[in-house]
Amino acid sequence: MADTAQFLDTIIKGYTTKGDKITLGTAMLNGEPVEGAYVNVPLKTLNRHGLIAGATGTGKTKTLQILAEHLSDNGIPVLMMDIKGDLSGIAKPGEEKSFITERHAKIGLPYEAKGFPVELMGLSKQDGVRLRSTVSEFGPVLFSRVLDLNDTQTGIMSVIFKYCDDNNMPLLDLKDIKKVLQYITDEGKDEIEREYGRISTSSTGAMLRRIIELEQQDANLFFGELSFEIDDLMRINDEGKGYVNIMRLTDIQDKPKLFSTFMLSLLAEIYNQMPEKGDADRPELVIFIDEAHLIFDEASKTLLDQIETIVKLIRSKGVGLFFVTQNPTDVPNGVLSQLGLKVQHALRAFTATDRKAIKLTAENYPISEFYKTDEVITQLGTGEALITALNEKGIPTPLAATMLRAPMSRMDILTEPEISEINNSSRLVKKYAQEIDRESACEILTKKIEGITAQQQQEAERKAEEKTDSKKTTTRTSSTGSTIEKQIIKTVTSATFIRGVFGVLNKMFK
Ligand SMILES: Nc1ncnc2c1ncn2[C@@H]1O[C@H](COP(=O)(O)OP(=O)(O)OP(=O)(O)O)[C@@H](O)[C@H]1O
Ligand SMILES: [Mg+2]
Repeated sequence: MADTAQFLDTIIKGYTTKGDKITLGTAMLNGEPVEGAYVNVPLKTLNRHGLIAGATGTGKTKTLQILAEHLSDNGIPVLMMDIKGDLSGIAKPGEEKSFITERHAKIGLPYEAKGFPVELMGLSKQDGVRLRSTVSEFGPVLFSRVLDLNDTQTGIMSVIFKYCDDNNMPLLDLKDIKKVLQYITDEGKDEIEREYGRISTSSTGAMLRRIIELEQQDANLFFGELSFEIDDLMRINDEGKGYVNIMRLTDIQDKPKLFSTFMLSLLAEIYNQMPEKGDADRPELVIFIDEAHLIFDEASKTLLDQIETIVKLIRSKGVGLFFVTQNPTDVPNGVLSQLGLKVQHALRAFTATDRKAIKLTAENYPISEFYKTDEVITQLGTGEALITALNEKGIPTPLAATMLRAPMSRMDILTEPEISEINNSSRLVKKYAQEIDRESACEILTKKIEGITAQQQQEAERKAEEKTDSKKTTTRTSSTGSTIEKQIIKTVTSATFIRGVFGVLNKMFK
């Protein structure tokens, strides 16, 4: 039996902090909370990112809820990716049921029921604040990834973006990009070939089909204007509470590519917009990504590298990222190694593979003289977790098997009337409900094509009048037989026009 006094001493020393903090719960020894052994996380280190892991039903989402509540209380806005649609309850006070009273008596912390300011966001009108982004903002590389294009097709996409840039044609929605694709294989074929090289119609045909597939997945709800402004995630209400922005993305679960690309473009945009914060006392924004494995599933090596880079850099902007997933191995090592706060709920050891994963997980936690980490992981109850954080100096705190507090807000979802009430009183819902369809590539090209057709008609009439029977036709030879691939390499490496995340990443490295 480990010595309780010694344990208490270790926890108090490890978790006492001078600045503002969140008290997550009370550390346990031999399965019971030890009086006064509070587990505090300094706000100051929450931009150092975190992980909440554990088997299904062990309390991950409630831990996320607790963290979000305390951040909001401290005036820090929060963004939550709500893939399962079970986070909306944070807007309303919880109900103090007997199991909550008992839990709080055990951990020696008072319970208070309250709700928090919430904005509901999503991809369709019914979901609240409509999230949209223009095709241009995605940039050619990310947009190609959404479409799952190969390298050649991605190259063509880059050329299309360049062409539209050169000709001041905004690419706003899928209609625009479809029109350009049609144009460059039809009326505009010669023009494109002259300027950028030859483009194969089989590639553009395949690209067009991919866009149509994407449309069938309702992606045209997402691409267009008014595109979302990052500042709207940073709101604080009149009482000084940070808004909890809940992005309800239930319909994106089966589209991991769209989800990961969307996340990366959002992070890149946040990175781009926010000023450098240096060593601040508190984060500016904390983002929670539930079901985070969806981001990393199917991600290419390049994309993983980009994610790793952005995770590393975004913290200097005061943005904390929290990944919530069942198994820590869902998160790539390069990202795991950057996480400051780790909350490990119970894992289940059904198979040999499970046992190996548990051993591996245990090895990634600080060594503790009070616990056999791999055993404790399998014994934790619901709403209990092994925790290690970073103290104010950035040093990992001692491992603490913690009984967590209960959420102050409702542990269940909102009803439809409650959702309507929030949406009806939201300024942002009104702002983003506007449909804007300004002149973009589609309209510009339609006019251009009309012009070309009229010109061709006049030409034909003139020729008919002159009745010349000259059969001379000038076939233009493609300059030095240059292939589109060569052109692409030139264009892509010049990288002056690549916007979206790669534009941002480029800037970062300058
Ligand atoms: N801190 C807590 N205080 C009180 N009850 C809790 C706490 N954490 C979890 N619970 C209880 O456990 C249930 C499951 O928790 P939660 O939904 O957070 O699990 P999860 O790990 O997110 O599961 P899934 O993987 O299925 O999403 C909750 O509905 C609640 O009843
Ligand atoms: Mg959950």
